[in-house]
Amino acid sequence: MDAPVIGFSKLSKTEKVNWLVDTYFDGDIIAHDTITRYWNQDQKLQELHDGFSENTITNYYLPFGLAPNFLIDGKLVTIPMAIEESSVVAAASKAAKFWLERGGFKTTIKSTIKSGQVHIMYKGLHGEMDAFYAFAKADLLQSIQSINASMKKRGGGLLDVQLINKTDVLSGYYQLHATFETKDAMGANFINTTLEQLANTLREKANEFQGFSLGIPEVIMSILSNYVPECVVNVSVSCKIDQIGTINGVSGADFARKFTRAVDIATVEPYRAVTHNKGIMNGIDAVVIATGNDFRAVEAGVHAYAARDGQYRSLTRARVENDVFTFEADFPLALGTVGGLTSLHPLSKLAMQILENPSAQDLMKVTAVCGLAQNFAALHSLVTTGIQAGHMKMHLVNMLEQIGANDDEKLLLKKAFQDKTPSFSGLREMLADIRKK
Ligand code: MEV
Repeated sequence: MDAPVIGFSKLSKTEKVNWLVDTYFDGDIIAHDTITRYWNQDQKLQELHDGFSENTITNYYLPFGLAPNFLIDGKLVTIPMAIEESSVVAAASKAAKFWLERGGFKTTIKSTIKSGQVHIMYKGLHGEMDAFYAFAKADLLQSIQSINASMKKRGGGLLDVQLINKTDVLSGYYQLHATFETKDAMGANFINTTLEQLANTLREKANEFQGFSLGIPEVIMSILSNYVPECVVNVSVSCKIDQIGTINGVSGADFARKFTRAVDIATVEPYRAVTHNKGIMNGIDAVVIATGNDFRAVEAGVHAYAARDGQYRSLTRARVENDVFTFEADFPLALGTVGGLTSLHPLSKLAMQILENPSAQDLMKVTAVCGLAQNFAALHSLVTTGIQAGHMKMHLVNMLEQIGANDDEKLLLKKAFQDKTPSFSGLREMLADIRKK
């Protein structure tokens, strides 16, 4: 690309595609085809998807799979998962089956409070800000009443607002820290609208207030926080050591001992903790995406929570006490089951139906279960056979697809590589041999 493109967003979809193919692919018909093959034939559905974002030229598929047989608080649940990584859904299903026979998953919602902040600068005396807040508070609360009304009817709304002095970490920095209950909505729009109204009222009241000695406070920004350490679900599994049985040739007692050690390592060692938690997010993100929730918000919040004491640590905990193995986690998850993409995307709607139209709290529970299950499955392999055996089995399917094997050839190659680590060169060589015969 030699020069900036002007007015790109105003071009039609076809014009955008043509521009792309001409600019980056030398007019190549294959590139054009790759883009248009993914257009949905149903015009209305395509328009719906185009409308989710901007400058859309095509669709980007993710596999949408199911992990059945999760026993969660005594109820059987089939978990919808949208994820591209092979082995993840299989691992979740395996963990579901293991715990189905050992009492299932237990969950508890610890709290569902979210927060947002109006970030303010004022370089004058602290006492002046305190006096101003006492002067303005009633009007601040009054000004958001109509925004708050419908959320209040649903049993939620603004819970509290506090002026917090942050001048010890940044000179002149204060914030209005507001807490919210948003019931079944993720609540981003409600929280941001409320915060912006609080900021407007704060500016108005600051102009009326006579007690500032150094100008008036400046609102820098108003925005919800994706850090949700008070919107937390606990999930656990537990069974007697002698119920574990032999796992991949390892006794139940040895398995539990190595498993807890693996979690201890991820608790103290950030190099391991990041990969350990990444495995958890394989499960959490897959449910978050399938149900049309914001996985970037969840990712950011979860990782901040994992580092809440200043060091990045495992999100899960494991212990053996009195011959009982317990594996658990607290996950901060701000999720919604109404509003946003959850009701717009036909597949998110379907995912909600598979989950029998859960409340936000129910969805937090299911998502947390999938995260814990994923970590259980990963450690299950890591402390016994290692991860590659299972991974490569699943990966083999993708590799066979990529080398263009037909169904009969796939069967022969799968059999030939069942005990071996497949490589592309090895598979291609054997495919060539099969085709010679
Ligand atoms: C791969 O996507 C996830 C794992 O690396 C997680 C882990 O190491 O615990 C297998």
